[in-house]
Amino acid sequence: MDSVYIRGGIVLQGQVSIQGSKNAVLPVLAATLLAEGTSVIENCPRLADVYHMQTLLQSLGCSVTRDKNMLRVNTEGMSRLKALSGDMPKEAVESMRSSIFLLGALLNKTGEVELAYPGGCVIGERPIDIHIEALKQLHVSFEEKSYGLHAYTEGLKGADITLPFPSVGATENLLLAAVGADGTTIIRGAAREPEIVTLCRFLSACGADITGGGSSTIIIQGRKKLCAADFAIPGDRIVAGTYLCACLAVGGEVLLMEAPTEQMQAIKKVAETMGAVWQETDKGLYIQRRERLKAPKQLITAPFPGFPTDMQSLFLPVLALAEGNCTVVENIFENRFHIIPDLNAMGAKIEQMDAKNARVEGVEQLTGCRVQAKELRGGAALVIAGAAAKGETIVDGCGYIERGYENICRDLRELGVRIYGV
Ligand code: EPZ
Repeated sequence: MDSVYIRGGIVLQGQVSIQGSKNAVLPVLAATLLAEGTSVIENCPRLADVYHMQTLLQSLGCSVTRDKNMLRVNTEGMSRLKALSGDMPKEAVESMRSSIFLLGALLNKTGEVELAYPGGCVIGERPIDIHIEALKQLHVSFEEKSYGLHAYTEGLKGADITLPFPSVGATENLLLAAVGADGTTIIRGAAREPEIVTLCRFLSACGADITGGGSSTIIIQGRKKLCAADFAIPGDRIVAGTYLCACLAVGGEVLLMEAPTEQMQAIKKVAETMGAVWQETDKGLYIQRRERLKAPKQLITAPFPGFPTDMQSLFLPVLALAEGNCTVVENIFENRFHIIPDLNAMGAKIEQMDAKNARVEGVEQLTGCRVQAKELRGGAALVIAGAAAKGETIVDGCGYIERGYENICRDLRELGVRIYGV
């Protein structure tokens, strides 16, 4: 399905179960490489990026089997040579950012790895300088090669490391390496995202000694033997936030089951300030929007626990239809306003002042038209705009959306949206 058709303007009503977290499961799958035996990962979403990670693990000699939403990863067949010979399928490595987590895991497991530069998307340059400078402090050497990076170590040594920016990926890579280092590693200025907490929980379940996961200072006692563990991935906070935004943009009431509400407090603050009803019940997150929402003066993205950058695009259609004006400040990625021209083609009034700032002037209504997804969260935001717009919308380029959503059409249909793959 590369395009979806949406007949918009129908008030939402219904409930949907939120899939497991993409950004949590990917580093956990990389971490399974470090655990002897068979790890069982529950609530694993069916996504292109997860499939790519499975392919990478299999190319390293692991056996990976799926049974519905459960993945079993057995590392007994993993061979050092494979990690060296660059056997990892280039297309899988380059197709997603998460292949970078293999750097820390493989340095821990084999001491050497050849890796093509990871892919990314149009939201930004996505450099890995913070990863590299931090790993060097654990006694890793790097060589630039034509295909990418050759990284090796005579033995990982614990260190006291301060990150210049709380990079999620760099924190995860450091954790995956430090659990196998000699001695203690301290990560200062660590990312605090829920995905870090989940990775620390999995590694601890395998026998690692980690304290401070989720805070900005994480302490790892290395060299612990890690054994396979059974582990359940939490719900995806951004997918839950996506369907929340559909309700805020279109109106109505929805129940988001398995939504990780404890990870969504910054989103809650904005939604309630705008006038939405937010109720955390034992069945899930109940959201209601009856009246037109009021725009906040500003929406500013920041590292966790601030407002998530991944929610910025998803809130644009909500702000476009709210009463009043809002200045959106994107502090994390340098190119994350791709959908503004598409939203304006639908009748929104959004002006991009520069790479970081956009000004939204609320309008009463959007009108459906044909638009093009260019990346994951922007594509989902265009679907939300189509669900709220009068008339018909076609969103092309939905392959991007499938990288993060198991089945956005199925989920939104359960909430009452008339949406079909075409
Ligand atoms: C993770 O990306 C997520 N991806 C992103 O989600 C998310 O937006 C981001 O964290 C921030 O929360 C996955 O977990 C697979 P960063 P990551 O390292 O690790 C710069 C989605 O929609 N930077 O925290 O790449 C970087 O360019 C995706 O699911 C460096 O300069 O994010 C960016 O501007 C999109 N050098 C900022 O830091 C580095 O070495 C944040 O990047 C690393 C990062």
